[in-house]
Amino acid sequence: MTTSTALGCQYRPQHHYTADRNWLNDPNGLLYANGTYHLFYQHNPFGNGWGNMSWGHATSPDLLHWAEQPVAIACDEHEAIFSGSAVLDTDNTSGFGTPDNPPLVAIYTSAYSLASPLGGRQAQSLAYSTDDGATWTKHAGNPVLDRGSADFRDPKVFWYDGAAGSYWVMVAVEAMDREVVLYKSADLKAWEYLSTFGPANATGGVWECPDLFELPVDGHAGNTKWVLVVNLNPGGIAGGSAGQYFLGTFDGVAFVSETTVTEGLQPDDSRMAEYGWLDWGRDYYAAVSFSNAPDGRRLMVGWMNNWQYGALTPTNGWRGAMSLVREVRLATRSGRVVLIQAALDPLENVEATENAGAAAYAEAGRPLDAGTRWLPPEASGAVLRIDAEIEPGAAGEVGLLLRAGGGERTVLAYNCSTGVLRLDRTASGNTGFHESFASVESVPVPLEDGRLRLRIFLDRCSVEVFAQDGLATITDQVFPAESSSQVGLFADRDGGRLVSLDIVGGA
Ligand code: FRU
Repeated sequence: MTTSTALGCQYRPQHHYTADRNWLNDPNGLLYANGTYHLFYQHNPFGNGWGNMSWGHATSPDLLHWAEQPVAIACDEHEAIFSGSAVLDTDNTSGFGTPDNPPLVAIYTSAYSLASPLGGRQAQSLAYSTDDGATWTKHAGNPVLDRGSADFRDPKVFWYDGAAGSYWVMVAVEAMDREVVLYKSADLKAWEYLSTFGPANATGGVWECPDLFELPVDGHAGNTKWVLVVNLNPGGIAGGSAGQYFLGTFDGVAFVSETTVTEGLQPDDSRMAEYGWLDWGRDYYAAVSFSNAPDGRRLMVGWMNNWQYGALTPTNGWRGAMSLVREVRLATRSGRVVLIQAALDPLENVEATENAGAAAYAEAGRPLDAGTRWLPPEASGAVLRIDAEIEPGAAGEVGLLLRAGGGERTVLAYNCSTGVLRLDRTASGNTGFHESFASVESVPVPLEDGRLRLRIFLDRCSVEVFAQDGLATITDQVFPAESSSQVGLFADRDGGRLVSLDIVGGA
């Protein structure tokens, strides 16, 4: 993402979407239509904290460079516009467009204010666009689905085409009950109840922003599983907000999980590491996928923040960023089917285009000796992609020091005896704005052929780690001084080897 750094401070990311001004939280209405990717998002057009919730809007030709658009769906005195999804209604089932000009339809949660006759309720509503998302009209018949509930929200709608028929399916949550509720519709306006899933696995917080999609296992179209994504807050694996996923089947009516470890509303903290997590860091929340992405790709984006401290992060003029876009797949690893994630790489073509004067550094096949070795200036930066392959060998602990300088550092360490990768931001820079911000995140990661492969994206205020080709990810915000830009390698004992290291910079 390329945004101006004119407004804001040293923390404004270069490649992650931020609203030019003001507050942003969940990604909404992720959609590909007519050659353009749309990113809508929870946005306060009038302030740098949560409130006046409306759908902000940005568009992109490539998921890497985003252009901010005018607010798409605005709150009014009766309703705030909470999270939801958007679809291209190709067959004009809703009648909001014409067969020749099918509409884009947004399905969002109306959070009714006390000034409204429906005051205090959350129900699902529609808005549509017949000009490629430039302008949006609220449907006169809103809301289209009201359960009389105060916590019914975050509808994700997709077109189901299977043994049970062809129709729209909505997954939404009864947040307090830790339930995902499923409905179906022929026209996006009249909805019929299908089934309920949950509570299961992580239930230590409200369930929000669900998603449901089918993916091939190991790329085999004949062998698929359905993935049910359930974000929850708090109660995440690293504390506060996080996303979990279940794998299973969906027959057009009900999702049946194959990965349920614990059922019911009693959180069992001892089993947290057995659940499926989208990310093991503190700052990847409300992640959902694009609708209608070309070539059957499943592309997800999360809000790179955490409700525990999200209102207090030390940025000026703007607050909240999106993660990089991630392509997710299912793969068999160590005999288990798991979700594998790869970030779309904003620095893929960097040498050819925008890299004048920025970092570029490589080395290979070098011993990793005991102690810390600082890399030269051409390996430094606040915006970097780092690819490292490490053979720890006889070392007990190996890793990288990131965003280091003046006593600040973010530590990415692998402990060979426990098999745990950890990201430590306790000395990363400004951590004092909230008591829970200084933290250490950890994830079990087995070595493969004795090696650890890491892909790390640094972007001024964030660290995103993809370990073992996306088997595990850790996403954390950090707020170091701009001058804290060094990278170091460390080991506690001799005997390890740096198989390869490649660093490119973006600024
Ligand atoms: C998740 C969430 C959603 C809600 C939105 C309000 O972060 O709480 O459940 O729709 O944010 O901004």
